[in-house]
Amino acid sequence: MAEFMTGLKRTHFCGDLRMEDVNQEVVVCGWIQRQRDLGQLIFIDLRDRTGVIQLAFDDHTDREIFEKAFTARAEFVLAAKGTVRERSAKNSEIPTGDVEIFVTELRVLAKSDTPPFEIVENSKVKEELRLKYRYLDLRRSDVQDKIIGRHKIVKVARDYFDTHGFLEIETPNLIKSTPEGARDYLVPSRVFPGNFFALPQSPQLYKQLLMLSGFDRYMQVARCFRDEDLRADRQPEFTQIDLEMSFVEEEEIMAMGEGFIKDVYKKVLDIDIPTPFRRMTWHEAMERFGSDKPDLRFGLELINLSEALQGTEFRVFAGALSAGGSVRGINLKGLADQLSRKEIDKLTEWIKAYGAQGIAWTRLTANGETSSFEKFLKPEEVAAVRETMGAETGDVLLLIASPKAKVVFDSLGALRCELASRFGLIDQSKPNLLWVTDFPLFEYDEDEKRYVAMHHPFTAPRSVDLEFLETQPDKVCARAYDMVLNGNEIGGGSIRINNPELQETMFRALGFSQKEAQDRFGFLIDAFRYGAPPHGGMAFGLDRLVMLMLDCESIRDVIAFPKVANSGELMTSSPSQVDAQQLLDLGIGILPQETTEANE
Ligand code: AMO
Repeated sequence: MAEFMTGLKRTHFCGDLRMEDVNQEVVVCGWIQRQRDLGQLIFIDLRDRTGVIQLAFDDHTDREIFEKAFTARAEFVLAAKGTVRERSAKNSEIPTGDVEIFVTELRVLAKSDTPPFEIVENSKVKEELRLKYRYLDLRRSDVQDKIIGRHKIVKVARDYFDTHGFLEIETPNLIKSTPEGARDYLVPSRVFPGNFFALPQSPQLYKQLLMLSGFDRYMQVARCFRDEDLRADRQPEFTQIDLEMSFVEEEEIMAMGEGFIKDVYKKVLDIDIPTPFRRMTWHEAMERFGSDKPDLRFGLELINLSEALQGTEFRVFAGALSAGGSVRGINLKGLADQLSRKEIDKLTEWIKAYGAQGIAWTRLTANGETSSFEKFLKPEEVAAVRETMGAETGDVLLLIASPKAKVVFDSLGALRCELASRFGLIDQSKPNLLWVTDFPLFEYDEDEKRYVAMHHPFTAPRSVDLEFLETQPDKVCARAYDMVLNGNEIGGGSIRINNPELQETMFRALGFSQKEAQDRFGFLIDAFRYGAPPHGGMAFGLDRLVMLMLDCESIRDVIAFPKVANSGELMTSSPSQVDAQQLLDLGIGILPQETTEANE
């Protein structure tokens, strides 16, 4: 039978006891990490979130207590009272390793079945099992450290923005569906059958309305929901540190964002981050690194071969160039011996996920030269390619051609990161931060056959580009900026449109009819008619920031109860079916699965 705490009050956390506490009577509570029975002696390592302390039981221990210690097992919950004493055999590996508690009173507060995996640090247990029993996984100290680190980062954020005059204001989680970008999660209304709320993809519109209300500086640690395919750095439900400011331009917002990153690195990790951060235009980032979130901790820059190959008759390159695409490459310097033909073949398969048809390559090893494409080129074209790429013996040249410029950038951008990580080319010594600016306002969506906003439809165009808004949308630059940390987008924002006519023009440019714009965003356009101050802001992806600051491989490591790749949650087996009555109350019928599949 489990016992109660009655009359016992915890005096210390397990991890806090030291030599100074010797001879003190203390009460600690926690879970059994390990019980060791040495016959006349029993040791129990008791764990709470601060650490582990050794409980000792010997022939001076009351027999009843000794018996309890004898039968206790891993993960039982105990309260133990006793006297702190110096250990005869010290353990220098743990902070409490000089002392132990000689137990005089012991309560078994809860028993435990044998857990499905051992609760130890850096466990190699499969993630699926860990997440099914996440509450046990979260007992492990290395896992707890991430959650504690996250708390510290959020605390610094709240303090920092409070110090700078921001008010934390909550915005609703049941909102009007205004999808743009990801899919919305919908919540059916019982009161208005057939109508739905959406969960917010971000507090964007509400924070802008708060600027209209005069709150001037807003922040929120805000939960956001996006129904999109998951990746290692994406969750359907995630948290933003969201902010908005009135009467400002880009510089003030960016300085505020940099200030926060500087503060949080200093306070949480004691790392000094120099400000202001480096800046790079979107165009330069794409041209040189094939990415709008370039990782600048290594080189391997993209080399444009369009000029070197101008007029070539080799079908693959000529086709790409004449269709308005490009041929670009990377020179993997000095690594020809380490990247075999077989490895290149594997990369060729891998790169297809980014839309590329393949990789054209040349290996210049000291023992000879091999190439998949040079035989199709004229000697002067080979020479021009090699010269443009600065090729020398020992190098591997990897080229990608596509009629779609985006495919070349995406695939070479990804290849660059893959090679850097594979060959250890990344300078891990310090965080690398930069701003990417001057994004295009629109990008063309091949599926929808229309322009969509690259950030969101509320981002202001540069005033010099206003005249092209409806005539040459791809010429227009946005007043938007993204913050990039080690090749990951950790935040982004913009100066907003604050004028109803411009907002309407923007909706038109995005292909919304006046009625559609009015139905979806009428409240915003109306609001802009009542004195909207110039405003702008940004949002940090908290989960990503924590993941990178704490050196985690996955965003799931820094979320207490994360979702897995199919957006489900293993512990509670959600999503799940609901009662017929619940559906009836909502006026919802479920279509047969074939119908929904056909729609995909
Ligand atoms: P954006 O969509 O760029 O901007 O989001 C801001 C930051 O949120 C993080 N993020 C995510 N993190 C985890 N899982 C996801 N699915 C996910 N999606 C985005 C990224 C990103 O940089 N309202 C605007 C901000 C603004 O303009 O002020 C917005 O939401 O780190």
